[in-house]
Amino acid sequence: MSKQKINTKTIDYKSIKPILDRSKKLVYIETYGCQMNVNDSELVLAILQDNGYFFTKDINEADLILINTCSIRENAEQRVWGRLNVFRIAKTKKTSLKVGVIGCMAERLKEQLLEREKIVDMVVGPDAYRSLPDLLRNVEAGQKDVNVLLSREETYADITPVRMDENGVSAFVSIMRGCNNVCSYCVVPYTRGAERSRSPKTILNEIQILVDNGYKEVTLLGQNVDSYFWKDEKNPEKDVNFAQLLEMVALVNPLMRVRFATSHPKDISNGVLYTMAMYENICNCVHLPVQSGSTRILELMNRKYTREHYLERIAKIRKIIPDCAITTDVIAGFCTETDYDHAQTLSLMTEADYDFAYMFKYSERPNTKAARQLKDDVPEDLKTKRLSEIIELQNRLSLESNKRDIGKIFNVLADGFSKRSDEYLSGRTSQNKTVVFPKKNYAAGDFVNAEIISCTSATLIGEIVENEQHETIHELKNILGETIHIFEEKTEKARNKIKQNINKTTKKWKQ
Ligand code: SAH
Ligand code: SF4
Ligand code: F3S
Repeated sequence: MSKQKINTKTIDYKSIKPILDRSKKLVYIETYGCQMNVNDSELVLAILQDNGYFFTKDINEADLILINTCSIRENAEQRVWGRLNVFRIAKTKKTSLKVGVIGCMAERLKEQLLEREKIVDMVVGPDAYRSLPDLLRNVEAGQKDVNVLLSREETYADITPVRMDENGVSAFVSIMRGCNNVCSYCVVPYTRGAERSRSPKTILNEIQILVDNGYKEVTLLGQNVDSYFWKDEKNPEKDVNFAQLLEMVALVNPLMRVRFATSHPKDISNGVLYTMAMYENICNCVHLPVQSGSTRILELMNRKYTREHYLERIAKIRKIIPDCAITTDVIAGFCTETDYDHAQTLSLMTEADYDFAYMFKYSERPNTKAARQLKDDVPEDLKTKRLSEIIELQNRLSLESNKRDIGKIFNVLADGFSKRSDEYLSGRTSQNKTVVFPKKNYAAGDFVNAEIISCTSATLIGEIVENEQHETIHELKNILGETIHIFEEKTEKARNKIKQNINKTTKKWKQ
């Protein structure tokens, strides 16, 4: 691959192509679900751009609408049905418009999607994106097409995703696909297939490209990153586990922040924690979904750990990385959950003292182990009540955690303007907390030191502590600028002098 420099950006970086040829097809992509899906949309765009499609942000000018879907809970799917209704109206206005459903809902419902929703032209599962150009040829010829084959090998390792984020600061990199755990409530193993790891070489290459193009943060993605394992068929000594991969990634560039998600309580190793502690650029934040605080419920969920094991892991994280943030996912109202089980969840949350949590009501998913073997027997209003107690407790814990940060100074990576005002920037600490601060002469992509002066339960409010390093760099830049200027002036004078001398000499010679 060539690495010619263009405005400090290397050209092997795939970016959104400007629409140069109006006769070409335009694709609009809408994404639901997890970070994995966001990254998959970037892969899909890379495949489509290589096949004559240009990306548009304007749904009204699209020739093709792709909706990248999520099946994790009933309401995630409802949202997609709602959007398909909107696309139906768009299709009546523009009959040539094609609609494709991709992602987890495509995998779960397969042909049923075409039968249930007549406006859908194409259904493509998460492992079949390479076939998109072929499928689109059929669709353009007026047929409907489906490819939902799951694969044991596909990792799209050789495809550089086209980044759709607007700030160029932070990017997702998938290190594996699928999941081999069968948590009884979860649809992911059915929609994304078996677990497979991507080669370390292609992961490191993608990260180097991001570094070369000014990105400052990568998040390594997998449903269970701790079970990442790359087997070197020729030399077992070169096998790579997650702790080793994390170290390799951290070493790509010490200024590139590294995050990862999601960790599994049964698999997160001390090796991973020591690696985090060892490298300054690996962020101090672990997302460790607990789901429930009751060992009985965890067993029914098939999570393969107990409350005690989970709390032991939390204690270990706190011991090895004292300033580590810990975040989680919680499900309220799983099958057979009693008031006692629920109280156990609340008490575990208090004990773990989470900084942040994603909290959900249990939603039965067709064909999962729980749907087949257990009764969804917690009444809806009780699920709602328990969820609101969980949310209320977490809000309190988050507020307390943020209050403890007041007076401390954090290194913050700015990633854009704050939602409320362009006079403020928003950024994240190593612990993944959002900090809002007056922008001064900083911009997205800058690291600043911010002292926390106040907070809400969701946000830290900071003031920039003039970064000595930043000031020095600023001064150095000025000095360098002046020196270059003087040098250029001097060389200009010298060049003129030489020219004059040459002229004089030639004249003499001619005489
Ligand atoms: N692989 C990750 C995340 C999977 S999905 C993990 O193992 O944690 C993200 C979260 O959605 C899960 O952690 C869980 O809290 C929630 N979730 C999954 N299935 C669900 C369901 N059927 N009902 C409610 N929440 C669910
Ligand atoms: Fe779903 Fe469990 Fe796999 Fe996470 S680890 S994706 S919750 S089956
Ligand atoms: Fe949803 Fe699929 Fe992700 S079900 S959460 S988009 S893996």
